[in-house]
Amino acid sequence: MQRLANKRLVLGVTGGIAAYKSAELIRRLIDAGAEVRVVMTSAAQEFITPLTLQALSGNPVHLALLDTEAEAGMGHIELARWGDALLIAPASADFIARLTHGHGNDLLTTLCLAARCPIHIAPAMNQGMWASSANQNNIQQLETNGIHLIGPGSGYQACGDIGLGRMSEPDDIAQILADSFQTGSLTGTQVVITAGPTREAIDPVRYISNHSSGKMGFALAEAARDAGATVTLIAGPVNLATPDRVNRINVVSAEDMLVATTECLDHLSLNSSVSSEGSIIFIGTAAVADYRPDTSATQKIKKTQGNPNLTLQLIENPDIIATVAKRSPKPFTVGFAAETQNVLAYANDKIARKNLDMIIANDVSNKDIGFNSDLNAVTIIWPEGNKTVDIASKAIIANSIIQQISLQL
Ligand code: PMT
Repeated sequence: MQRLANKRLVLGVTGGIAAYKSAELIRRLIDAGAEVRVVMTSAAQEFITPLTLQALSGNPVHLALLDTEAEAGMGHIELARWGDALLIAPASADFIARLTHGHGNDLLTTLCLAARCPIHIAPAMNQGMWASSANQNNIQQLETNGIHLIGPGSGYQACGDIGLGRMSEPDDIAQILADSFQTGSLTGTQVVITAGPTREAIDPVRYISNHSSGKMGFALAEAARDAGATVTLIAGPVNLATPDRVNRINVVSAEDMLVATTECLDHLSLNSSVSSEGSIIFIGTAAVADYRPDTSATQKIKKTQGNPNLTLQLIENPDIIATVAKRSPKPFTVGFAAETQNVLAYANDKIARKNLDMIIANDVSNKDIGFNSDLNAVTIIWPEGNKTVDIASKAIIANSIIQQISLQL
C-alpha cells in the first residue's frame, strides 16, 4: 500500500447503491498517503452527499462540467492533468456505456477523455446487467482501450440477487491500485538521481543558485522506486519530503554533489552483484551551477559607501554527469537539458559532448512547465530515436522517462 504515498488520485463516483462504499474507499486511499479529489455524477448524488465525500477527502467535490467557479480554480483539464491515476468506483452500467463510446456530456466522462494517466474502473451493478451482452461488449472494448478493470466481485446484491456484479471491497481496490504503480521494469537495478539546485557561496549569508525546486528529480525517484529499482536521491537544498523507500543524501554545492555522487557510485560498484552493465543508472536532473565564486568570503561582505560596483570572479564547477559518464564500467547515464531556445539542437550537442546514453530536453522558456512547476513537457532523446511527452504532471513525465530507460537498457 506504500506505493499510494503522495499519489494524486481522482476518484469518480457514479450512481449506484455501492456509492456508499466510496466513503470507505476514500479513507483507505488517504490512510495510504494518497491525495484524493472526488468527482461525482448527478446520479451518484442521489445515493451519497457531496458533503460526506468532501469531508472525507478534505477537498471540494467536483460536480459539474460547466462550473465557472471550478474552471477558474481547478478546471476539468487541470484535474485530468493533476491525477496520477483516475479510479471510477462504483462504475455503473450506464457510465461504462458512455465511457466506451467516448461521450463527453458530463464532468467525469470529459475527464476520462482528457486524462493521460491510467484509468481504473470498479463496476457495480445487478448480476443480470453485468452479464448482458451489451455490457460485456462494452467491458471488452474498454479493456482493449487500455482501461483497467477491478472486479466485480460475486455475492448477495442489494436487489436480492446473488451473482457477479458487486463492487470490489475498498481494501481490495486500494491494494490493486497500489500494485498498479509497481511496474517492475527496473527490478534489480540501482538508480542514482541528482535533483534540485546547487548553492554556491559568495559569503556566509549569500549564494548563487537557480529556480530548480527538485520536483522533477523527486518524481523520478518515485517512478524508479515503483519500477522496482533501489533509489538514491542526491538532493540540493529543496523543500520536499523524502519519498518512501528512497535513500536521500543532502548536499549544498556542486562540489558537494560531485563528492556524494562519486562516493555513492564507488560504493555501488564495489558490490559486484550490481556492477554489471545496465544495472546502475545515473540520472542528472539537478540544475547544477556551472560556475561558483572563486573564493567564498569568510565574513559577510560589507557594502562599501560610494562604490556602486562589486565584481565577483567566477570559476567553472566540475561537470558531474560528464565525470560519471567517464567511469568504467559506465553507468547508464541520463542527462537533462533545460533550454530557452534551440532546445533540441542544444540537447543533441550535450548528449554527444557529455557522452550520455539519453537526454531529456525541456523547454524552460514556457513559464507553465519546467522549473518549480508541477508540470513538464519533454523530448526524450537517445542515439537511435526520440519520443515527445506532451504537457503532464511531473509524475507522469517521470513514468514515461523510466519506461523509456528500461527499454534502452
Ligand atoms: O527541479 P524542478 O523545479 O522540478 O525543475 C526541473 C528542471 C527544469 C531543473 C529539470 O527538468 C532539468 O532540466 N534539469 C537540468 C537543468 C540544467 O541545468 O541543465 P544543463 O543544461 O545546465 O545541464 C545538462 C546536464 O548536465 C544536466 O543533466 C545537469 O544535471 C548536468 N550538469 C550540468 C552542470 C554541471 N556542472 N554538472 C552536471 O552534472
